[in-house]
Amino acid sequence: MNDKAPVYQAANGKPNLLSGMQPSAGSLHLGNYLGALVNWTKMQDDFNAYYCVVDLHAITVPQDPAELRANTRRTAAQYLAAGIDENKSALFIQSHVPAHAQLAWVLNTITGMGEAGRMTQFKDKSQKNGVDSASVGLFTYPILQAADILLYQPKAVPVGEDQRQHLELTRDLANRFNSRFGNTFVIPEAHIVKETAKIYDLQVPEAKMSKSAADPKGLINLMDADNVITKKVKSAVTDAEGSIRFDRENKPGVSNLLGIYSLISGMSIAQLEDNFAGAGYGALKGELAEALVAHIAPIRNRAEELLSDPAELDRLLAKGAAQANELAEQTLATVYDRVGFVKAQ
Ligand code: TYM
Repeated sequence: MNDKAPVYQAANGKPNLLSGMQPSAGSLHLGNYLGALVNWTKMQDDFNAYYCVVDLHAITVPQDPAELRANTRRTAAQYLAAGIDENKSALFIQSHVPAHAQLAWVLNTITGMGEAGRMTQFKDKSQKNGVDSASVGLFTYPILQAADILLYQPKAVPVGEDQRQHLELTRDLANRFNSRFGNTFVIPEAHIVKETAKIYDLQVPEAKMSKSAADPKGLINLMDADNVITKKVKSAVTDAEGSIRFDRENKPGVSNLLGIYSLISGMSIAQLEDNFAGAGYGALKGELAEALVAHIAPIRNRAEELLSDPAELDRLLAKGAAQANELAEQTLATVYDRVGFVKAQ
C-alpha cells in the first residue's frame, strides 16, 4: 500500500505553508507578532500560504460567545494590518472549513492516550483549574492542530518555540498514517526563527509573554494605545546592576528589552550594547517605548479601520475559506478513501 509517488505538488510548484493563532483575546501580543506573524508576512511570496484564526481551538476553554465572535474578527484584522496580503495568502476562519474537525476525528483514532497525555501545553493548562475540570477538547487540542496542518500539505509551519512539541506530534501522526494507509500527507517542518522564538514577559522576564499572564503589564498588545505601550515598557522589570548588556541568565529583563529592541529596529544586540554604553535603563526604556509606538500604532490604526467595515472583512474571509476548502476537501477525500469509508454518491 505504501506507494512512492510524491504525495502532493501544488500546481505552481511552490511549497505550501500553514499557520494559525487562537482568537482568545481582543489583541495579539508582541510574542505572537514577533514570534510568528512577522515571519508569516515574510514567507508569503515563496510559499502558498494558508493562515487561519483557530476558533475551534478557542472553545477548548470556557468562552463568551459574543467575545469569541468579536475576537475572531479582531484577530483576522490584525493579520491583515500586520501585512498578510489576501491576494497572496488564503486567510480564513478555521470553523469555515469543516474538514478540520473531520480530519481531527480520524487522527484521534490513531493517537495513543499516552502520547496525547504527554503534551505539556495540556498539562500546564489543565493544571491551572484542576485536571478534572479540563475538557476532553483541551486534551485532544493538539490532534485538531495536527489536522489543521496536515490538510494543507505544508512543508513549513512558522510558529514560536512553544509549538515545537505539537509539531512533533503532527509529524508522528502524519508518518503513522502514511505508513499504515499509504503516502497521503507531506511531513511538515516547524519553522522556528531562533531570535524570535521566545519573547518574554515584561514583568516576569523568565517566562514567555502569554495571553494568560497574571499581570497585564507583562504583555504589549498590538491593539494597545500609545500611552499604554509607553507605560508598560517604562514599568518593565530590570535589575539592580545598572549596565545595559545582554545576559539572558543573569539579566533576563534587560536582555528581553534588548532582544525586542533589536527585532523592532533591525540593529544587532552588539550595536545596541555599544550605543547604550554608560547609559541608564531609563534611556533604553525611553527609546524602546518610542520605537514600539512608532511600529505598532500604524498596525493598530489599520486594524481599527478594517474592523470598522465588518462586511468587507467577512468578504475577505469568505474568499480565503473558499480557497482553503478546495485543498482541505481534496486531502480529506483521500484520507476517507484510504481508511476505508464508502464514497458518498
Ligand atoms: P497561540 O495562539 O498561543 O500563539 C500564536 C503564535 O504565536 C507564537 N507565540 C510566541 N512566539 C514567541 N514568543 C512568545 N512569547 C509567544 N507566544 C506565542 C506561538 O508559538 C504561535 O506560533 N496551538 C497554537 C495555535 C494553532 C496552530 C495551528 C499553530 C492551532 N492550530 C496550526 C500552527 C499551526 C497556539 O495556541 O498558538
